[in-house]
Amino acid sequence: MKFFIDTANLDQIKEAEDLGILDGVTTNPSLMAKEGISGANNILQHYVNICNIVDGPVSAEVIATDYEGMVKEGEDLAELHSNIVVKVPMTKEGIKAIKYFSTKGIKTNCTLIFSAGQALIAAKAGATYVSPFIGRLDDVSTNGVALIEQIRLIFDNYMFDTQILAASVRHPMHIIECAEIGADVMTGPLSAILALINHPLTDNGLAKFLADYNKLNG
Ligand code: E4P
Repeated sequence: MKFFIDTANLDQIKEAEDLGILDGVTTNPSLMAKEGISGANNILQHYVNICNIVDGPVSAEVIATDYEGMVKEGEDLAELHSNIVVKVPMTKEGIKAIKYFSTKGIKTNCTLIFSAGQALIAAKAGATYVSPFIGRLDDVSTNGVALIEQIRLIFDNYMFDTQILAASVRHPMHIIECAEIGADVMTGPLSAILALINHPLTDNGLAKFLADYNKLNG
């Protein structure tokens, strides 16, 4: 399972990269705004800065909502760096743009997926990734992880190359459940990734090992 970090914060991206387990980054306009990145040139430069930290796919989202605008913006984003994946919303215009990008060899991440039908049509259009938002589904009393299971079954039935990118991950159990199902990628906050490392029995065990060592060795 690939691990992407879902942030535009350079310090957090560096921290995850230093751990040695980071495969890529996803951003969205809200995450860019959270870092105070505004203005076309600053936004583009920020994507380049992220690409210079992580040697893996970096999702950069288009703001345009019409086909022509998405194509223009996506082509400009793809020119920035070979790591860029153009993130396109799940709309009719978005599907047309994904089809166009797939014929041009530009990688795409179809975002804001909340149903199996949306994932199926994005895969048919040639999306490199589909991003089902599992946390946001949980927020409205709908099982987000169950959607990953449904999409896995459909993609396996027809051997789609499109990768399932479990997004809107909120906590370590989301990651573990998505890994059990066979999501290709997960994207989440640094806190959810770091939480996988912790276990109280590990802490207690280590403390005991060190105490026993120190008894004899000072
Ligand atoms: C996916 O690419 C999105 O950026 C993201 O995972 C959304 O997560 P949220 O629901 O925590 O905002």
